Amino acid sequence: MTSVEMTKGAASHRVLVVGAGYVGLTSAVCFAHLGHDVVCVEANPDRLAPLLEGRSPIHEPGLEELMAEGASSGRLQFAQGVAGTGMSGVEVALLAVGTPPDENGDPDLTQLAAAAREVSAHAVRDLVVVVKSTVPPGSCEAIELVCADAAPEGVRISVVSSPEFLRESRAVEDFLAPDRVVVGAADPEVAELVADLYPAGVPLVKTDRRGAELIKYAANAFLAVKISFANEVAALCESLGTEASTVLLGVGLDQRIGKDFLRPGPGYGGSCLPKDVSGFQALGRAMGTPTRVVAAAEEVNDEASRAALMKLEMGLGGVAGKLVALLGLAFKPGTDDSRDSPALRLAELLIASGARVRAYDPLARVDAFAGERTADAMEAIDGAEALVVATAWDEFSALSAEAVAERLGGRIVLDAAGALDLESWAEAGLVVYGIGRGAPVAFHPVVWPPLRWAHQRDSLALFQDDEVAAG
Ligand SMILES: NC(=O)c1ccc[n+]([C@@H]2O[C@H](COP(=O)([O-])OP(=O)(O)OC[C@H]3O[C@@H](n4cnc5c(N)ncnc54)[C@H](O)[C@@H]3O)[C@@H](O)[C@H]2O)c1
Repeated sequence: MTSVEMTKGAASHRVLVVGAGYVGLTSAVCFAHLGHDVVCVEANPDRLAPLLEGRSPIHEPGLEELMAEGASSGRLQFAQGVAGTGMSGVEVALLAVGTPPDENGDPDLTQLAAAAREVSAHAVRDLVVVVKSTVPPGSCEAIELVCADAAPEGVRISVVSSPEFLRESRAVEDFLAPDRVVVGAADPEVAELVADLYPAGVPLVKTDRRGAELIKYAANAFLAVKISFANEVAALCESLGTEASTVLLGVGLDQRIGKDFLRPGPGYGGSCLPKDVSGFQALGRAMGTPTRVVAAAEEVNDEASRAALMKLEMGLGGVAGKLVALLGLAFKPGTDDSRDSPALRLAELLIASGARVRAYDPLARVDAFAGERTADAMEAIDGAEALVVATAWDEFSALSAEAVAERLGGRIVLDAAGALDLESWAEAGLVVYGIGRGAPVAFHPVVWPPLRWAHQRDSLALFQDDEVAAG
């Protein structure tokens, strides 16, 4: 039976964290801040090197400050592998490695199994392994078998699910003040130990492992549905000649619905939502349970970049051979992460359609980009035939429309991220397209069907009255 209580944040433990990515590094640093004794292992030398020098390899506000605090208190250390980290006092090992989708959209759990095997093989006493990575239900039970196989004789490994809900760009803030902590364990005492790792006073959902694993998948699937629903409403708004952000605000202020994630935009992206949406569907397939709502959300999302490209094609009379300035590559503002970024998807579509793309992003790390990158926004805009704003960074909202109008070669601007004040940009002489912003036209076709229906009803009513009168 699931119960909701509050975390007590009582005990201090010796914790090993495997993986120093957005989740692992944030967990390690925040656990040290909360008073735990933490060793964080990171296999990738490019990520480990800055950590050993006290720098963060990822951009997250507040992370480096807490890293410095952990270094000076001696409660936070980094190493490349589990071997040599001194496992004797370690009671909890937290696995925060990647669980990317494979080519079929099924979750690839090989990194997780390897990490589980590594910590189990080095365990010198009974150990609690916490799976922080996002995994499909059943994974913790499977990983427990892997651990049992790898562990030395006499050492018992209990695997617990405690999924993470932090948002990139506010990872530290979210980790230290989460909406809830979820712990799925087979043993109540082990569940208690894991719950005590977290800050005090947070709603705690204790359940079994499959339930905890599903909570994470279902939460992300629901967020994806919300975003795609907003984009469907936005498309309707464009046809109706009305303003989607206002319509969606009017919808979202209903407390049963909520306004977060109900904004028109270029579709969802990042390392989590697309992956977890496909994982959720893979789970449905494996269980023989349809996941139709989520499948539809994915379909709508796949259309979002193409819809943005269509607008540009129309505005430019075809994009082939045109130079397009693209502002934004990160999957959302405030992060350097561009994994599965809608901005990159749009860039790829533009390039595949024959456009030349010149892009600027203040932070995004992009491994392979077929376009050109510039050092500032104006350099990207200079002489381009069109401008696309694909990530809603504040510095793009703050651009002067007049300065852009002067430097841009063409007149077309597509605000795919909802970052610009379209009226003032139009006043500067630019032709601006947004997402979910329709142009009201006199006697719009939307009026025709209701007019016909009103007319039919009137005629019917008159006819019926005549009948009655005649009868
Ligand atoms: N990024 C997010 O916002 C977020 C939020 C909630 C949950 N999650 C989930 O958390 C998990 C991790 O996500 P992330 O974004 O932090 O991934 P990431 O790719 O940024 O980090 C994973 C790190 O683990 C390291 N690693 C892999 N195997 C290792 C091993 N055996 N030993 C040491 N290091 C190892 C990798 O080198 C990498 O640096 C995923 O399952 C993800 O779905 C992510």
